Amino acid sequence: MKGGQKIVFIFVNIIAFCNGSSEECKPKVAVIGGGIGGASAAHFISELFENVVDIDLFEANKIGGRLATVTLQDDQFEAGGSVIHNRNQLMKRFAELLGLQPRPSSTNELYGIWNGDEFIFQESNYEMITLAKLIYRYGMDPVYLYRFVNSVLDDFDKIYELQDNGRGFRNVTDLLAAMNPRFPSMLQVSMKDHLKNLGYSARLIDELVQATLVVNYGQETDVQSFVGCVSVAGVGSSLWSVKGGNKGVVEGLINRHKHIRTRPYVVEKVSYNQKYDWSNGMLSSEDYPYTLTYKAKEEPHVQTDKYDIVIVTTPLTSDQRMPIRFENFPNNEDFMLSGNYQTTYATFIEGQLNATYFGLDGSIQGILSCNPEKTVISSVGKLSSVEGHESNVWKIFTRKSLSSEIIGRMFSKVNEKSGPIEHEWKAYPKYSINDKPGDFKLHNALYHENAIEWAASAMEMSAIGGRNVAILAYNDYMDHCKRLKGFGSKKRKLNFKIEL
Ligand SMILES: Cc1cc2nc3c(=O)[nH]c(=O)nc-3n(C[C@H](O)[C@H](O)[C@H](O)COP(=O)(O)OP(=O)(O)OC[C@H]3O[C@@H](n4cnc5c(N)ncnc54)[C@H](O)[C@@H]3O)c2cc1C
Ligand SMILES: *[C@@H]1O[C@H](CO)[C@@H](O)[C@H](O)[C@H]1NC(C)=O
Ligand SMILES: *[C@@H]1O[C@H](CO)[C@@H](O)[C@H](O)[C@H]1NC(C)=O
Repeated sequence: MKGGQKIVFIFVNIIAFCNGSSEECKPKVAVIGGGIGGASAAHFISELFENVVDIDLFEANKIGGRLATVTLQDDQFEAGGSVIHNRNQLMKRFAELLGLQPRPSSTNELYGIWNGDEFIFQESNYEMITLAKLIYRYGMDPVYLYRFVNSVLDDFDKIYELQDNGRGFRNVTDLLAAMNPRFPSMLQVSMKDHLKNLGYSARLIDELVQATLVVNYGQETDVQSFVGCVSVAGVGSSLWSVKGGNKGVVEGLINRHKHIRTRPYVVEKVSYNQKYDWSNGMLSSEDYPYTLTYKAKEEPHVQTDKYDIVIVTTPLTSDQRMPIRFENFPNNEDFMLSGNYQTTYATFIEGQLNATYFGLDGSIQGILSCNPEKTVISSVGKLSSVEGHESNVWKIFTRKSLSSEIIGRMFSKVNEKSGPIEHEWKAYPKYSINDKPGDFKLHNALYHENAIEWAASAMEMSAIGGRNVAILAYNDYMDHCKRLKGFGSKKRKLNFKIEL
């Protein structure tokens, strides 16, 4: 009886190896960061492995990351990433998948561009008048710019089909070149020079284009021209947000998969287990290639866990609040990028705008600065709540913290019970034409989603970056695992003989 059981057991084992049961290729994955990039990566990993995977998603703060809300008077408002372009397909797909509704950006809000002395441009209630004003000040340039940016978006759209077909890219240059071979060179030319070379007027560049960069990225036209185009793409297009808050997409994507375990810890270190043998894998003395060291936020006690795949979805620049260390990698690599992130303050105030302060007599719902050194503010805008209710809440973007004295002059009837609330963000990369575009693939099974932010930072970009690292991780792991299985069955045969 005993011997018979043993033979059956061995037989079952052999069958399992011959069939190559998918259980054998079930990786343990760590995703570091619970923003849209981490959620996208975890979601697509789950899809690609058809749920035969274990994912630990580490988030030290709140799920959502740079997608977050603030509450004033029982209403919630977007505090970080807020608007989504109508051509952003992944964000659209996510919302549909999760049954979340779009909340269109209000169209009856009137914006003006302010240089600190005067409003050089103001929208009108009537679209035709707005267009006439634009042409009066800038000639046909805005029309050509709109067409130019749309042609960039047409090329950008190619990424969706490439990703649907399982294409992954090891670095930002490769990803951009797949959209259009000329895109990588856009990283080496400033937005200002790029548009100048195309024949646009200085006035258009210094006013309209500059105003979009100041409000979207807290920066000016010396940024590289790919992010410059992403910034301009919002103008004249329909924009939307997710009803209930954009962070609902992140929460929904994570909660939908049972095998994603959310772990509320700070990751301090990723170390490479040099004894892990990539050709022998699980049969070598180290079972897993990577060890994560992590701890609860306020506690000194650290814990460790081992993984087959590690996906970093938080920026690897030295200015981040919870930097990750890399240990024991070949050549002492630490994978840190040399750049910095732009600090943006978002201040929320419930009150009335003091039009006189801005030299206005009529009412206005939004002010964009094209001269932030002089105007102090980068932008001021009246908000609707995440449910779409109108409010008297205003959001002010600045590069420095706003003093209460200036707030007191810009606004009247400030509700002191509900604010002001200030949110300081390490918001997006500080762009220049000297940035070295980073790698998505850092090591054999170690990946970095946020490399994509150096092309342009936006929710959709992080969603695409997350999907890209998921595809890379899946393809690499399946190759690796198939090789191991070939080797593994040989080794098992040996054991089989010994047992007999
Ligand atoms: C003020 C502001 C306005 C914006 N406006 C827009 C907009 O209108 N439209 C748009 O498309 N985009 C906008 N963006 C950009 C957009 O929000 C970001 O590009 C996107 O949310 C980044 O997502 P992510 O997942 O890559 O990173 P994050 O959201 O930053 O996620 C990283 C997560 O990792 C966690 N983490 C970091 N280190 C560790 C660690 N060591 N251990 C554990 N967890 C860690 C963090 O807590 C964080 O939650 C805006 C951003 C800001 C700040
Ligand atoms: C990007 O990766 C490709 C290989 O896929 C490589 O040939 C190229 O040199 C890399 N580019 C950069 C800028 O690292
Ligand atoms: C509004 O701004 C003007 C100009 O800066 C200032 O003189 C006035 O006192 C402000 N009003 C209020 C109510 O703060």
